[in-house]
Amino acid sequence: MPVQTYKTKHGNGEKRGKSAGTAHEHKTKHANGGTRANGRTAGGVSDLPLANWKEYGDILTDSLWILGNRDKSGNHNGAYHGNFVPQIPNQLIRRYTAAGGVVLDGFLGSGTTMIESRRLGRSCIGVELLPEIAKAAKKAAAGELFNAAAKNNIFSEVIIGDSAAKTAAQKTAALLAKHKREFLDLIILHPPYHDIIKFSDNKKDLSNTSTVGDFIRKFGDVVENFSGMLRPKHYLSLVIGDKYSESEWVPLGFRLMEETLRRDKTLSLKSIVVKNMINNRAKRNAENLWRYRALAGGFYVFRHEYIMLFQKRAK
Ligand SMILES: C[S@@+](CC[C@H](N)C(=O)[O-])C[C@H]1O[C@@H](n2cnc3c(N)ncnc32)[C@H](O)[C@@H]1O
Repeated sequence: MPVQTYKTKHGNGEKRGKSAGTAHEHKTKHANGGTRANGRTAGGVSDLPLANWKEYGDILTDSLWILGNRDKSGNHNGAYHGNFVPQIPNQLIRRYTAAGGVVLDGFLGSGTTMIESRRLGRSCIGVELLPEIAKAAKKAAAGELFNAAAKNNIFSEVIIGDSAAKTAAQKTAALLAKHKREFLDLIILHPPYHDIIKFSDNKKDLSNTSTVGDFIRKFGDVVENFSGMLRPKHYLSLVIGDKYSESEWVPLGFRLMEETLRRDKTLSLKSIVVKNMINNRAKRNAENLWRYRALAGGFYVFRHEYIMLFQKRAK
């Protein structure tokens, strides 16, 4: 099925936020008024001034990310099983959007992306299937302050529903229209890693798909739903890990990568980042057991996941 492009009635009347920023934001962001108007920016999609590239050394540019401890500041508490560390959306948002841009998270979970978006002065639309989780995410994000200058340009909206259903796309398009925006500036997709963690009993939950094939197809539907709304030259990012099934490595990451490129021919693969996985305490206690099992079974214990970046070609 071809990717649908959603046009909002506001067309080109869209305004992009001019200023934003919080104490959490990188100090050099506005140091010399580094916006698109003043010169080239990193990737042409951010507001990191290329002229000052030596000053934002914490923006990662290598394909191997060794992240330290989880950022637990503010309303990030890390309690939701299966959430990602806030450093992931933080890096992606700063590198691939400008202040005032719109981030879509198709699997919002505990709202990590929405919290980071608000802190960084970006708008966010989050889709989450489970009502209680979605409501908690909305509350956590609402409790995160952002500075007054950004306030008028920023919105945070939660859609409770199935990201793979057309209604989620229609609601997203309606929200863009409501806020007088035409495009999404960044899409972040952090789906369940198939059935590794069961998030609910809901049949629409991707963690309940009965086969890897069904999981991949459903994920493809999610990509088709939202990628048509992505601004040309901007990015879709997929955060995913692999799994073992019946003693075989199942490369979910590469399978979803291929499905993404198959579903939307306007996307090109830009980078594959390998990120370290930090185990929780329970897993750390079981480390010796896993080492023993790995030695006995001839396999390796997962210590990494992927962040795959796809860029939408210019029109
Ligand atoms: C890996 S978690 C995302 C965690 C999130 N990045 C965070 O930091 O909290 C995947 C989420 O997708 C949700 N989910 C599963 N199937 C879904 C679907 N069809 N539509 C929307 N959300 C879904 C699950 O309930 C779960 O919260």
